[in-house]
Amino acid sequence: MAKKRIGILTGGGDCPGLNAVIRAAVRTARDNGSEVLGVQLGFEGLLSNAVVPLTTETIRGILPKGGTLLRTTNRGNPFEYPDGHGGCTDRSDEVIRAINDLRIDGLIAIGGDGTLRIAQRLCDMGIPIVAVPKTIDNDLAATDYTFGFHTAVAVATEAVDRLHTTAESHDRVMILEVMGRNCGWIALFAGIAGGADIILIPEIAYSPDEVARSIRERQREGSKFDIIVVAEGAKRIGGEEHYLDKVSRRLGGIAYQVAEDIAQQIDLEIRVTVLGHIQRGGSPIAYDRILATRFGKAAADLVADRDFGKMVALRGDDIYAVPIRDAVANPKYVDPEGQMVATARSVGISFGDGK
Ligand code: F6P
Repeated sequence: MAKKRIGILTGGGDCPGLNAVIRAAVRTARDNGSEVLGVQLGFEGLLSNAVVPLTTETIRGILPKGGTLLRTTNRGNPFEYPDGHGGCTDRSDEVIRAINDLRIDGLIAIGGDGTLRIAQRLCDMGIPIVAVPKTIDNDLAATDYTFGFHTAVAVATEAVDRLHTTAESHDRVMILEVMGRNCGWIALFAGIAGGADIILIPEIAYSPDEVARSIRERQREGSKFDIIVVAEGAKRIGGEEHYLDKVSRRLGGIAYQVAEDIAQQIDLEIRVTVLGHIQRGGSPIAYDRILATRFGKAAADLVADRDFGKMVALRGDDIYAVPIRDAVANPKYVDPEGQMVATARSVGISFGDGK
């Protein structure tokens, strides 16, 4: 009997730990008696026949590497594929044909929100797909954590530590902008871990007056510097998100807005650092390698069990399979009344809301 064949692809933005998922899935599939085809550039690879065999040899050494061996893109949605004339066309039938022609018995799609939505639509059309969630933003309610998040937090925390020493030496306010899209998880975790004075997140709109007031209060108490960690999706009370590009809705630049907002109200110098893609690049920390390995193994097992339409997820200490449909339906925001925010407030961190 012919060996079962698994396809695997990575879609959306990259994230530390993607290679660890690929490695674990390939090794587990081998143990389950299957062979694996790697599809390059997400679903796009199925339109251009960009597929490579993945064996234990081809994946050797990838566990600690950032990025993705299979490359990725956040364009190339087959349901809304650019037609070259400024419009879009539906090429999902070509994707389905390619999956059949390649004799793929089960496809593991590793990706964020966009990839999961494509996976769900293809599942609805009868394609056997299992999903693995990835995002540094940690914004999926179906899983406690996504791999890549803790690495991004570690990078952002190191940035806070480094800004501390220079802020202290110069009596400056340092504003660090971190990623996270419309969720404040990276800012909240890195802000607490790095001992920030002020954390601004999308879930708690800030008042510039309150931010300035808490800086002046610290000055009165003898501190002449401040560290502000601001999530890229943060906004003023009654204000809007700050976009680098409104059409593509790429967030960015809020740190400059905060600096402008408070400059007239304080007598300290202000400097801004936008951390950007450094949070996404490089080697995953041990936690993310382990979570990614567990996700890869679980995904390959789901394919072997022909339990399709599911996404692997972490709940507590265990890995579960949840319907992809549920996973895409519910984003996970920071709870302004939750324990993490309460802990931050208890140790004196302000959220710029006057509470
Ligand atoms: O979703 C991950 C993420 O890094 C966000 O935190 C950020 O807003 C976005 O992707 C950046 O996307 P791009 O790599 O397309 O600039």
